[in-house]
Amino acid sequence: MRTQVGIIGAGPAGLLLSHLLHLRGIESVVLEARTREQIESTIRAGVLEQGTMDVLRESGVGERMRAEGALHHGIELAFDGKRRRIDLHGLTGQSITVYAQHEVIKDLVAARLAADGTILFGVHDVSLHGIETPTPSIRYRHEGEAHTLECDFVIGCDGSQGVSRAAIPVDARRDYERVYPFGWFGILAEGRPTADELIYARHDRGFALISTRSPNVQRMYFQCDPKDSLEAWPDDRIWSELHARVDSADGQQVIDGKIFQKNIVGMRSFVSATMQHGRLFLAGDAAHIVPPTGAKGLNLAVSDVRILSHALEIWYRSGNEAALAAYSETALKRIWRAEHFSWWMTRMMHRLDDASPFEQQLQVAELEHVTTSRTAAKSLAENYVGCVAI
Ligand code: FAD
Ligand code: DHB
Repeated sequence: MRTQVGIIGAGPAGLLLSHLLHLRGIESVVLEARTREQIESTIRAGVLEQGTMDVLRESGVGERMRAEGALHHGIELAFDGKRRRIDLHGLTGQSITVYAQHEVIKDLVAARLAADGTILFGVHDVSLHGIETPTPSIRYRHEGEAHTLECDFVIGCDGSQGVSRAAIPVDARRDYERVYPFGWFGILAEGRPTADELIYARHDRGFALISTRSPNVQRMYFQCDPKDSLEAWPDDRIWSELHARVDSADGQQVIDGKIFQKNIVGMRSFVSATMQHGRLFLAGDAAHIVPPTGAKGLNLAVSDVRILSHALEIWYRSGNEAALAAYSETALKRIWRAEHFSWWMTRMMHRLDDASPFEQQLQVAELEHVTTSRTAAKSLAENYVGCVAI
């Protein structure tokens, strides 16, 4: 088989890239290891920045997001028994939408299939060849048979566990990494929203986050040991921990309900620099990971493919290679900004077991500052909605 752009991975990065290329008249094939049912039901991120909403809307896949997503104009930071609002819209003129990542995936798969796009699900043994030549290819197995996809470019959108990044020789790239000694325990529960806006809570027992999915389904997280097991957390223990960390002195309480999904994620910061080698380009989690505290992972994947689709369009239209050659450098500016913001939010909001009482007071002092100084609040808001100058 032959196509113009071979894409490995049908996450938000791979699917959106394929969709944007199609709108620019460029053909692609997406190779995905999992089934359609699996990618459309995996629970992950939920916060879409203004720029992400704009790309989805402008490219014609934002209708369900507009109808079913919840537009939020602010977030709350809870600490030391207080709750303070960051007025995202008042400070930046922009807002966020809470709309689950797997719903974005469903919208993108539907759009690709409606346009006769090719997504092959359940492929395995994917390997990359000839990426230093003008005729790279991807070999894979599908439905028991070996195949080769010949293309002009290979795009690695295969997430943090994929095979693409390893195809860049180690002496051509540098990895930057930080692993955090805690994880997030995530739940989905039936019930009404606890609050109108997301609550990020710092508590001596550990961080907690109250988010939402719909008027009847709520998403909540709390800091845990990354080696914890789901069995160690029966529902009663989860609710008493969330109440302890989030309920406020003025009587506002977490609203509990039937828990129907539990998961634990580890937390890591990671950047691969470079994000390109010859005819191979990496996008999304294949090239970088952020801890989830700033809600940046999905949004960074979208910003990568926005840059890459423009650069590929220029190459196909004019043969000019400059934008493609600058892809990694251009994308990394935004990535490092998001890496810093996510690390900073993580450090400010979590219980750090090795922090001295002095350092714990510094966390509270920083929270006081970002919630009282307009300048500091504006900086947080710009980073959160993704409109910070880069
Ligand atoms: P992915 O979504 O990981 O997609 C990669 C795709 O490639 C997958 O479908 C995978 O099956 C496929 N693939 C992998 N290897 C191969 C192969 N060899 N061949 C073919 N296909 C392959 N971010 C937040 O902002 N908030 C959150 O709450 C949050 N929670 C998360 C929870 C988990 C468990 C994880 C893993 C991530 C979470 N993230 C969160 C991050 C966010 O979901 C990611 O940043 C986002 O999914 C990145 O999109 P992507 O397309 O780059 O990668
Ligand atoms: C959600 C996830 C995040 O990482 C975050 O910072 C805010 C909300 C969510 O899944 O709703």
